[in-house]
Amino acid sequence: MPPVYSLRNVLDNDHEWLVGLHNDEEVLHNLTDPRPITLESHLQWWRSLDSNKQIRKVFCFDGTRAGFTKFYAIDQPNKNCVLGADLHRDFRGKGLAKHMWTLMCRFCFEDLGLHRVSLTTASYNQRAQHVYRALGFSEEGRLIESLYRNGEYHDQICMYLLKDSWHIS
Ligand SMILES: CC(C)(COP(=O)(O)OP(=O)(O)OC[C@H]1O[C@@H](n2cnc3c(N)ncnc32)[C@H](O)[C@@H]1OP(=O)(O)O)[C@@H](O)C(=O)NCCC(=O)NCCS
Repeated sequence: MPPVYSLRNVLDNDHEWLVGLHNDEEVLHNLTDPRPITLESHLQWWRSLDSNKQIRKVFCFDGTRAGFTKFYAIDQPNKNCVLGADLHRDFRGKGLAKHMWTLMCRFCFEDLGLHRVSLTTASYNQRAQHVYRALGFSEEGRLIESLYRNGEYHDQICMYLLKDSWHIS
């Protein structure tokens, strides 16, 4: 049987797992705000989300949760949004990111009817950039030295993808 990849809504029993994923060393290292969160602060944030502007979905691999996908700053009048996603450490290094991001792009371009998606990534995150470029994302600029990590400043790379240049796989 071929593997099944899906995006589903967040369930009540996902929150503890989501906090664990957020607080993973590699995830924190790549977030703009690298401070760990608590279940309490996470739930407070979750309850305050404006569902018109922000969506979160769990990425599943054969029905098992494997990653968290983030749709920020949804701007329906201008048909764009900002994306982010992390895989749980048990599911990294297995080529799953391209499937997760394909579903995210499909959700944005086909279900939300958007024209453009964008993201920012740390300049040192070569693996993530490889995934984004393979999907058709292009660099559109840099937030110079906007990330302070381990005593050094790093750029954040801004990337975008238009519906017309989306490589459907
Ligand atoms: C970044 C992330 C989504 C990548 O997903 P993944 O499925 O683990 O990626 P893989 O290890 O399977 O590698 C994907 C591709 O990148 C390539 N790659 C791996 N390490 C690389 C590196 N250091 N430099 C360049 N390319 C690299 C792989 O060869 C593979 O290429 P291919 O698809 O052409 O075969 C995932 O590792 C993750 O969630 N990491 C933790 C937090 C994070 O970095 N989030 C993203 C923030 S922008």
